[in-house]
Amino acid sequence: MVGQRFIQLLAEHPYFELTCVAASERSAGKRYSSAAKWYLEGEIPEAVRDLEVVPVSPEKVRADIVFSALPSSVAREVEAEFAKAGFIVASNASAYRMASDVPLLIPEVNPEHLDMIEVQQDSRGWDGAIITNPNCSTIMATLTFKPVYDAFGIEEVVVTTMQALSGAGYSGVPSMAIVDNLIPYIAKEEEKVETEALKILGSFNGSEIEQADFKISASCNRVPVLDGHTVVAFLRTSREATPEDIKRVMRSFKGRPQELGLPTAPPQPLIVREEEDRPQPRLDRNAGNGMAVTVGRVREDSILGVKYVALGHNTIRGAAGASVLNAELLVKTRKL
Ligand SMILES: NC(=O)c1ccc[n+]([C@@H]2O[C@H](COP(=O)([O-])OP(=O)(O)OC[C@H]3O[C@@H](n4cnc5c(N)ncnc54)[C@H](OP(=O)(O)O)[C@@H]3O)[C@@H](O)[C@H]2O)c1
Repeated sequence: MVGQRFIQLLAEHPYFELTCVAASERSAGKRYSSAAKWYLEGEIPEAVRDLEVVPVSPEKVRADIVFSALPSSVAREVEAEFAKAGFIVASNASAYRMASDVPLLIPEVNPEHLDMIEVQQDSRGWDGAIITNPNCSTIMATLTFKPVYDAFGIEEVVVTTMQALSGAGYSGVPSMAIVDNLIPYIAKEEEKVETEALKILGSFNGSEIEQADFKISASCNRVPVLDGHTVVAFLRTSREATPEDIKRVMRSFKGRPQELGLPTAPPQPLIVREEEDRPQPRLDRNAGNGMAVTVGRVREDSILGVKYVALGHNTIRGAAGASVLNAELLVKTRKL
């Protein structure tokens, strides 16, 4: 699911040329068009159709940057091998996200965490490096937290997610389990949403991250939507903020990708809507070419102060697009 989005985003990218595709032994040796069950709209990009799929091995891959959409269990070993062999690995997998020397990046939120690469290369003796993007729901949630955190501080947050089927991978959730249904559990998801945002919003002091100091409680659900994760957030801010204050800081929020004009950056990372029934997955997941998060129903909450609904495309902003934006930031700011 994520690999195909990578191919779609990289096929005609102004900075990158897609030179190689790698997958499991099941696919290695086949042409990409025979190995992949293409599920995205449109045809397989011409430049990739006839590429031979190679095994996931540094000796077989011809590239400078490797975009990884491996299962986490495989990523732990494989991504380290690639970094050791001198590749930059831009990863979607959770294996290294919380490692103390690995940047967990959202380029609009913590671009300065890229400086952790030097710490990583020193401590591990790697010529290459691993940079990671957060869990898909964490990305949507943390983009909305950032302007609020900077302007008013955050004391505590409660989030409920409603996550799309594509987030579970192609063979993730059987149709018999999810049609006419909702599954109130996604393995290891709540832990990720409760911890990753604190690293991302933390400050890097040159050697380590001092994590943000507030609590997040998450409840994650799988819903019968194909693409687009919805996050409902309830927040207590440190300084008083009205719903109008929250909307104002979200609307004016921009980051380094917008300043640098990175190709995958949406003009507005957060789009705040006023309609009482938005955002909705079918209507809003492609905002900003799938890279913007749409926020709506910003209103007072009688317990925590403020609440809202946020939605973003999980395989674009929540996965492949996030990794591509990370790599664009790296290339533009480090001149790799
Ligand atoms: N889907 C999302 O919205 C999303 C969002 C954020 C992060 N992620 C993360 O991104 C990663 C990929 O997720 P996905 O949804 O794209 O999963 P997926 O559809 O199941 O794809 C997994 C890919 O990994 C390859 N693979 C599996 N085992 C392998 C092995 N032993 N050696 C080499 N390659 C192997 C598969 O190759 P074959 O094609 O040959 O089987 C396939 O291409 C996961 O870590 C996931 O947690 C996903």
